[in-house]
Amino acid sequence: MKIGVFDSGVGGLSVAEAIEKALPDNEVVYVNDYEHVPYGDKTAEQMLRLVVPILSKLVEQGCQVIVIACNTVTTTIINDLRQRVSVPLVGVEPMIKQAAAATKTGVISVFATPATLKSSRYAWLKKTYAPTLKVLEPDCSQWARMIEDGQVDERKIEANVNRVCAQNADVIVLACTHYHWIEDTINRIVAGRATVIQPEQTVIAQLRRVLVRL
Ligand code: DGL
Repeated sequence: MKIGVFDSGVGGLSVAEAIEKALPDNEVVYVNDYEHVPYGDKTAEQMLRLVVPILSKLVEQGCQVIVIACNTVTTTIINDLRQRVSVPLVGVEPMIKQAAAATKTGVISVFATPATLKSSRYAWLKKTYAPTLKVLEPDCSQWARMIEDGQVDERKIEANVNRVCAQNADVIVLACTHYHWIEDTINRIVAGRATVIQPEQTVIAQLRRVLVRL
């Protein structure tokens, strides 16, 4: 099977690598939109204009399923994309449900891009799975750029992590695939005060379900 994996930038690469490792008999074709990253400050219309041609090209190249390895695109435009692309799309979205199941303090934190935090899908996830929880959303608006440029400033990460831990968050959701690259750094700063979760295994499980149906 040929699996397309798309993200605005390097975030999706971590997901593509995890898929390759978990499903070695398949071919993974990874593409990004290096020219226009980050997407986190873009509108739905802008994203749609950028993403549709990229996904269409993956379909032309023979991809039978495409993983949208981007929370920003998934939460903002995946329904529109499904109407425009002829193969199944597997999305990545903030793990609010899993965080709600895991928290003991009733406080969780979501690290995400501005577009994800603004999306109606994100609002729905919170309303549905975390109606009684306190959800902390620190400003991570510069993080995708910082990671894309390989200029990780640990002080910025430290500031957010320490702030949410001080407010009792015991689960931190990495809701932008770029942040997978700083998961170890975040865990080191967290130092056991919270559990850090990210969606690679959930995506792989969903992808397996789609692949058996193809
Ligand atoms: N990696 C993406 C995400 O999961 C997008 C980051 C960006 O382009 O701003 O949200």
